[in-house]
Amino acid sequence: MSTGAPVELTVYPDDCDAFGHVNHATYLKLFERARWEVLERGPGMKAFHSQGSWPAVRKAEVEFLQQIIAGDRLRFEIEVERWGETSFTVRQRARKIGGHGVAAELQVVIVAIGRDGTPALLPTEVGRFLGVRASRHTDASQQFTVRNLVVAADVSGDGPPVLFIHGFPLDRTLWRPVARTLTGWRRIAPDLRGFGLSEAPENGYAMSEYADDLAALLDIVGAERVVVCGLSMGGYVAFELYRRHADRVRALVLANTRAGADSADGRAGRDAMIARIRRDGPAFLADAMLPRLLAPSSLQTEPEVVRRVRAMVSAQRADGLVGALTAMRDRADSTALLPTIAVPTLVVAGSDDQLIPPTDARAMAEAIPNAHFATIPGAGHLAPIEQAVNTARVIREFLEALL
Ligand code: MLT
Repeated sequence: MSTGAPVELTVYPDDCDAFGHVNHATYLKLFERARWEVLERGPGMKAFHSQGSWPAVRKAEVEFLQQIIAGDRLRFEIEVERWGETSFTVRQRARKIGGHGVAAELQVVIVAIGRDGTPALLPTEVGRFLGVRASRHTDASQQFTVRNLVVAADVSGDGPPVLFIHGFPLDRTLWRPVARTLTGWRRIAPDLRGFGLSEAPENGYAMSEYADDLAALLDIVGAERVVVCGLSMGGYVAFELYRRHADRVRALVLANTRAGADSADGRAGRDAMIARIRRDGPAFLADAMLPRLLAPSSLQTEPEVVRRVRAMVSAQRADGLVGALTAMRDRADSTALLPTIAVPTLVVAGSDDQLIPPTDARAMAEAIPNAHFATIPGAGHLAPIEQAVNTARVIREFLEALL
């Protein structure tokens, strides 16, 4: 980190409680003083002020480890644990000079608040100064060890949890344009094994494996029952999650997906794609798939959407792709599951989805007791990224009705 020497502060009698000790309130003050002293060595508060925001503490947790009294001198260290778009998490440690070990630790979540009182973008120069790597400015992902595999996930926000499952051949960032607007909910968006920043083992791919990974991830992040939003292959995983771990599913959002299994032709198509990936590598996928994933209007008028989807498809690895194609080819038919679904369900279709026509999606919704159905105008197969505003609105209304 380029933050220079650690900050050192003396504890004055005024800082202490009636018993002469540093208490919780004092620690919060001392840690805050140390934090802003570090910041003033770099871009300072004006980095926030110049873009019309201020840094507010959203959550702070102090852990006392040693007794500190007036006259002690403390040395403070600071480390950024997570750097998101509008908030970041910092861990600070205080050590008594001349003593041993850590006297206290603080974990604090700081959010940039704009003039209108809503979260604002963090100043990038502050992240740079605190030693955050460039890629982490836009990537708030964390890594977890799930069933002996490294699984990456974006975990953000507080509130009832929502799990977002991406489709094929994509990653957790597919849902980001929608997830980031759902404030008031705890959003958990993992990369399935083999995709994005998660580990890609050579073998071990099946819908049951994806579902069990997600249940284990929910245990790790402490999310008991979640609203599960699955897009396309993410919907197949959502069905499997419901089959295997129904007690974890509070509600379902099934976007651009189907319940049926692959036909014989569909399975032959999977095998042909597996053979081609093994022979030529996955580079051909983006050109082959983009015209089918995106609506014609997105392809023609949304260059940023096209760029993002192309980058996502192009970043995937052969083992993960082959594994997912195998898992999709061999997946169970979930049609018989539909009438047994006993949680609130929203089915979302894209008006221009070439892979799953809205009429099929509507038929699926009609087979699920009391399911809601919405068509997103102008969306192809990837509604959350092609028509983020409308997709987010429909999902937010559904979520709010659950409260
Ligand atoms: C997806 O978007 O996940 C895939 O198109 C699903 C599939 O190929 O069945």
